[in-house]
Amino acid sequence: MNDWIDIAPADGFPEGGHVVADLDGIPVAVFKLGGEFYAIEDACTHDGAEIASGRLDGGEITCPRHGARFCLKTGKVLAPPAYEDLTCFPVRVEGGMIQVRDARWD
Ligand code: FES
Repeated sequence: MNDWIDIAPADGFPEGGHVVADLDGIPVAVFKLGGEFYAIEDACTHDGAEIASGRLDGGEITCPRHGARFCLKTGKVLAPPAYEDLTCFPVRVEGGMIQVRDARWD
C-alpha cells in the first residue's frame, strides 16, 4: 500500500497527545512529541496489547499490560518482556492534515 492516509488535523494537536487510527486494517497510534509526529503500530510485540494508552515518559512508552518499554521515535524495544521492536510508519503533514502511510511493502 503506497497511499498516504489522513489521520487528524495537525493544528491544535496537543503536545504529548495521541490518536489511534485504522491504516488499512492496522491499528496505528500517532503521537506528538517535541513538536514532531511519530506513528507506531498500536500492538505490543510481546502479546499484542494496545499500547497507545500506556504511560509516556519523554520519548518512551510503557505497555499497559505487562510493562515492556519502547522508544516512541524508533519503535526500539527498551525493556522486557517484549524483545521485538514496534513497527513504525512514516508521518507527514500535508495541507494541514497529519498523514501516515504503510511503507513496509515498498
Ligand atoms: S502485551 Fe505488552 S508487555 Fe505484554
